[in-house]
Amino acid sequence: MIVCVCNAIREKDLREAVRCGSERPSEVYARLGRKPKCGQCLSFAKDIISVKPATA
Ligand code: FES
Repeated sequence: MIVCVCNAIREKDLREAVRCGSERPSEVYARLGRKPKCGQCLSFAKDIISVKPATA
């Protein structure tokens, strides 16, 4: 699923960046070499970031 249309960021790209330690949308986008543009994706990105992956 595409999370950010402006930057063509997929949900799995976002989750991978979170696993690598990014905690805020700006950090995630920077890790992916992109910047938020229109900002419409940010609340969805925050929701994805706030869901921690299960351990064990
Ligand atoms: S949809 Fe992400 S910045 Fe526009």
